[in-house]
Amino acid sequence: MSKNICFIDGLEGVLKYREVDINELVELPYDAVSYLLIRGELPGEQELAEYSARLHAEREINREVMDIIRMCNFNIDAMEVLRTVISFISQFDPNLNDSSPEGNMRKAIRLIAIVPTIVAAYYRVSNGKEPVPPDPSLSHGANFLYMIKGSKPDPLEAEVMEKDFILSAEHELNASTFSSRVTASTLSDLYSAVVSGLCTLKGPLHGGARAEVMNMLEDVASPENAEKFVLEKIEKREKIMGFGHRVYKTYDPRGTIFKQLSRKLAESKGDMHWYATAEAIENTVVRELVEKRGKPIYPNVDFYSGVIYKYMEIPPQLATSIFAIGRISGWIAHCFDQYEKKKIIRPRAFMLDEC
Ligand code: ACO
Repeated sequence: MSKNICFIDGLEGVLKYREVDINELVELPYDAVSYLLIRGELPGEQELAEYSARLHAEREINREVMDIIRMCNFNIDAMEVLRTVISFISQFDPNLNDSSPEGNMRKAIRLIAIVPTIVAAYYRVSNGKEPVPPDPSLSHGANFLYMIKGSKPDPLEAEVMEKDFILSAEHELNASTFSSRVTASTLSDLYSAVVSGLCTLKGPLHGGARAEVMNMLEDVASPENAEKFVLEKIEKREKIMGFGHRVYKTYDPRGTIFKQLSRKLAESKGDMHWYATAEAIENTVVRELVEKRGKPIYPNVDFYSGVIYKYMEIPPQLATSIFAIGRISGWIAHCFDQYEKKKIIRPRAFMLDEC
């Protein structure tokens, strides 16, 4: 049942994927969480080894895909490239129109495996560098950083990246998952459903907020400027990116973990600058909006993740696509559920008044 894929208590700040709490999930490898989402239960040791081996074997992209990546404009958000390339590669998948559970599982594994490689290859070529082939011996997070940077990543950065993918993997019927489900509900193929998810995730009110947070940190520049910046935004009735959530009326549990991770990274690098700037923004938002005006506006999943990318020297153009690398397992879990239902999602227009 769809409600079993994810559980959110927006008042208490609880998040579970398939009944496993997010605080436990972040201690697992991304592959195990991905397996949990798309197969419905945690893998045993042998099952995880087999699933990881299949994923890692599907990471490579071929020359035709590289040609398409090289043809893309070099100054665009990686989400544009991801959307284009996923559309392009679907035609070569022998299982494209095989909608059996096995056919869909094969497509799912290919998609989950290949998305990080596309993002990293685009990043490399758009910076005048040769792409770095994936390393099947590395975890999802470590391999992504390796393909971006061209050298084996620092263990803490690899751990943080892995946890980022897990924290981003699933969140019930958010806008992009809803898009994917609607596409799957027409019994369209999995590639099309993933492209729908990508198109919806990129908007700044959803996954695109991460890049906006990074730009905001640059604009604010130091903890001393945070208060003035936030007060001006509130005065002009403008949104502060990375804050607020439709479902959470308390601190987003993913935000809590991202905050701890960003602090850990900052301390390990001996550079508290970005963490302190973000925390000064948060303190002012909470003082002005929560304490004085009673609005439940706390950091969401996009706020401290943006801080992490500053420390890892990942540019804003990659921020949303990193979100997509994690979220694709959640989209696919919902599509599988929708394929089983075999029922089209067709709301009535009056329902939009409640959105
Ligand atoms: N900064 C300042 N005020 C805010 C913020 C914010 N980030 N978010 C909400 N508010 C205020 C609104 O101005 C509004 O005030 P009002 O009642 O005086 O008009 C009130 O809180 C309710 O805001 P809505 O926009 O109606 O809340 P909604 O549930 O529709 O939107 C959303 C949720 C889109 C996440 C919103 O909080 C927002 O735009 N945040 C900034 C963008 C962002 O960070 N998006 C990522 C969300 S997480 C994710 O999608 C992965």
